[in-house]
Formats: sequence, structure tokens, C-alpha cells
Amino acid sequence: MDILKAQILKNKIPQHIAIIMDGNGRWAKLKNKPRVYGHKNGVNSVREAIESCGELGIKYLTLYAFSTENWNRPKLEVKTLMSLLVSSLKKELKTLQKNNIKLRTIGNLNDLPKSVQKELIEVIEKTKNNTALNLTLALSYGSRDEIVNVIRNISKKVVNNDLAIEEINENIINNHLYTFSLPDVDYLIRTSGEKRISNFLLWQIAYAEMYFTDTLWPDFKKENLFNAILEYQNRERRFGKTSEQIEKINE
Ligand code: IPE
Ligand code: IPE
Ligand code: MG
Repeated sequence: MDILKAQILKNKIPQHIAIIMDGNGRWAKLKNKPRVYGHKNGVNSVREAIESCGELGIKYLTLYAFSTENWNRPKLEVKTLMSLLVSSLKKELKTLQKNNIKLRTIGNLNDLPKSVQKELIEVIEKTKNNTALNLTLALSYGSRDEIVNVIRNISKKVVNNDLAIEEINENIINNHLYTFSLPDVDYLIRTSGEKRISNFLLWQIAYAEMYFTDTLWPDFKKENLFNAILEYQNRERRFGKTSEQIEKINE
């Protein structure tokens, strides 16, 4: 593992990684266990991902934990996921503090049970001055829902004459997204073999590199993340330019 880590170039680390942590239910099913057993074990992978990002000096990690569509799952599963969230936040606060990690959330927090909201508010408040890793949990998050909110909020400003239509540009839109304080996603990782975005950060991944792996989330450990980052470092991000232009910039 250390050999793997040593291969990672310090000057080509993605600034912002976003992960669709998929495959918990299938992982449990393979072991003849109830789906929630997978979610419980998924928490260990969350811890490993956070630790790895800390070790590599990655500044932003955004984790898709619960989508707006996930409310349609069986009631018991939703309930278990919510209580898992509360217990994990309670348990991990110390580690977040120790590792200088700042927690944020994106999504419709009001949809979450009061107990979850209370715990989140507390951890966000207590970690707000931390400066190493910016950890964002997407909870009751849907990208389309986010974009609807952006349009509503910008429209209000226009109607109130606080903003002219001509002033609306990409920057203004960025500043109205839940992710207003985060840079664009550099690297999007999805586990479990599914190759889709599932309503995650549609605007923010416009130029992200994508990484899909068959590994199920509870099996996704430090070395899996290091391998993913090594692959990122072999990609050429051209942003519309030609390869020759990019090579010149890097000279
Ligand atoms: C992702 O794992 C976690 C959540 C959506 C909360 P899944 O629960 O979707 O696991 P699979 O895809 O059914 O295996
Ligand atoms: C996406 O996973 C949401 C999270 C990982 C939280 P899903 O398992 O809900 O995605 P779909 O519905 O299969 O695309
Ligand atoms: Mg899934």
C-alpha cells in the first residue's frame, strides 16, 4: 500500500473528488444479510476515503449519501439509514476535529428527521473553523432539485430588481448552487459497476474525469482510492484544447 501511495504525484492531485458510494445492498445480499448490513459496513469505507484524502492533501471530498429519489425506498431502510447517520456523526466528531476536517452538507436538510438535523447542525458548527479537508455530505440531494432552487432564487432577485437579466452568467449560477463554496469536481468516482450519474452534481461535473469500478462500496478501501487517483494522474484534461497546447502549458 505504501508503494502504491508513493507513486502518487503530489503536484497532480485532484482538488475535488466526488464519490457515488453505491453497492451496499448488493454487498450484503452476497453475504445473505439484510441490505442495511451493507450500509453499516459502508461506513468503514467512508472513514477510509476520508483518511486517504487527508493523507494525500486533497482539499475537497463530496460524498453522495442519500438522494432525493432514495426517499422512495422501503420505510425501514430509510429509517435505518437515518439512524446510522446520527450514530456515525456522534461517533466521528472527535476524528473530524483531530484531523482538522470541516463538515458541510448539500441537499434539502429540512426533509431529514429532526434528530439528524440537530446532529448535523452541531457537527457543522463544531468543525466550521477546520481547514484541512472540506468534507461535504450530499443528503436528500438531487441535482435537478438544486437547479430548480437556483432558478427560483435568481428569479426572485430579478423580480425584486436586485439583479438584471443580463447579469446572469455561469458565475452567478455557481454562486446560487448548494455547492457555491466548492470548486468544480475534478474526479467523479462511482462504485458497484453502475455507469450512471443518478442525479448527482450535474452542473458541477461538466468537465470532471470519471472513474467507474465494479468494487462494491463496502469493499472500496484505501488502496482502491489510491489506484483510482493513479489512473486520474494518467489522464490528460484538455478542456477543449488540443493535446499539443496542453503539452506546451506543462513544459
Ligand atoms: C448506495 O448503496 C447507498 C445508498 C443509496 C444509500 P445501495 O443501497 O444503492 O446499494 P445497491 O445499489 O442496492 O447495492
Ligand atoms: C445513488 O445510488 C445515490 C447514492 C449513492 C446515495 P442509487 O443506488 O440510489 O442509484 P440508482 O437509483 O441505482 O441509480
Ligand atoms: Mg444502488
